[in-house]
Amino acid sequence: MYGGGFIPQGDKHKRAIQDEDPEKLAAFEACIERGEKIEPTDWMPYEYRRQLTRMIEQHAHSEIMGALPEGTWITRAPNFKRKLALIAKVQDEIGHAQLLYSAAETLGKPREQMINDLLSGKSKYSNVFNYPAETWADVAVIGFLIDAAAIVNQLANAKGSYGPYARALKRICAEESFHLKQGYEAFVYLATGSETQRAMLQDAVNRWWKPIIHFFGPPDKQSIHSEKLMKWKVKMASNDDMRNQFFDQYIPKILELGITIPDPNFRKNEETGEWEFSDPDWDEFYRVIRGDGPCNAERIAVRRWAEEHGEWVRTALMKPDEKYAIPMA
Ligand code: COA
Repeated sequence: MYGGGFIPQGDKHKRAIQDEDPEKLAAFEACIERGEKIEPTDWMPYEYRRQLTRMIEQHAHSEIMGALPEGTWITRAPNFKRKLALIAKVQDEIGHAQLLYSAAETLGKPREQMINDLLSGKSKYSNVFNYPAETWADVAVIGFLIDAAAIVNQLANAKGSYGPYARALKRICAEESFHLKQGYEAFVYLATGSETQRAMLQDAVNRWWKPIIHFFGPPDKQSIHSEKLMKWKVKMASNDDMRNQFFDQYIPKILELGITIPDPNFRKNEETGEWEFSDPDWDEFYRVIRGDGPCNAERIAVRRWAEEHGEWVRTALMKPDEKYAIPMA
């Protein structure tokens, strides 16, 4: 077992896979086949641990980074009711990160290392949070469509094989469904408002359209991890299937409000049941997830600032003998 924060790299990584005990591997796969959950103390293949750590960690980072674009609107929300809802939502997202970091820690990677990997650019987080929230309509689009996209992904993966992640996702989905309701309500309000409000909303949908398509990951034929993750029931549907399911569920809700999709080639192929769309510029997707999107540098800088300025709180809580320590009774 590779616990205690020990995840081999390079040649050690190759050897770790080769050294896998075939009997243990067969028993592990049979357990997954029967639909049983894998728990932290169970034996698991090195690659299962590595992939899960990567995915849950990226997911946790996405939750804290996801709080940033919406967080910039807390002070500028159009009224007190919206401000209260947004504060609660942003706080929930940070809570989701806590749940997910805890789930990832059960696989052996310390939280501090995960945060360092985020700040150094080694770990990824969702592409969508590297775009600016330019107007209040962006907050409505994020709250409705990005949260809807996250729910499609998370509801599926909540049925996955790793116990701590599946249980965290179940709880997260319950809260996300409130976020979706407040996002939808804000979206409908603008869509049924004045001409200026409708134009602002349409502009936000136009700008978020490609990042939302990218959110589900590259097309299946380019996805490098899907096959293994799906075999081990970590990922419960492919990127294209989740994207398609999102379109099925939410495109009618957008169109019925008179908001249009900014792609003349977007349509459902009734024979295949699949939605077709123009090339959403996958080069842009790869640039953004590798650190070169419109807001990557700003997001990481804000996160680093929070990390540095929050150090005294961590010291007070975790190292009671040092400066700023809270006296222990
Ligand atoms: N944002 C950033 N990176 C993404 C991405 C996205 N929307 N979609 C895919 N990628 C990255 C993958 O992490 C991978 O990079 P890596 O090898 O350096 O880690 C690469 O693109 C290839 O993608 P793929 O092989 O399809 O990755 P995957 O099988 O892990 O699928 C997800 C991508 C996002 C669908 C999957 O990881 C997932 O379901 N994650 C949990 C949910 C989550 O993180 N949601 C985000 C915020 S709510």
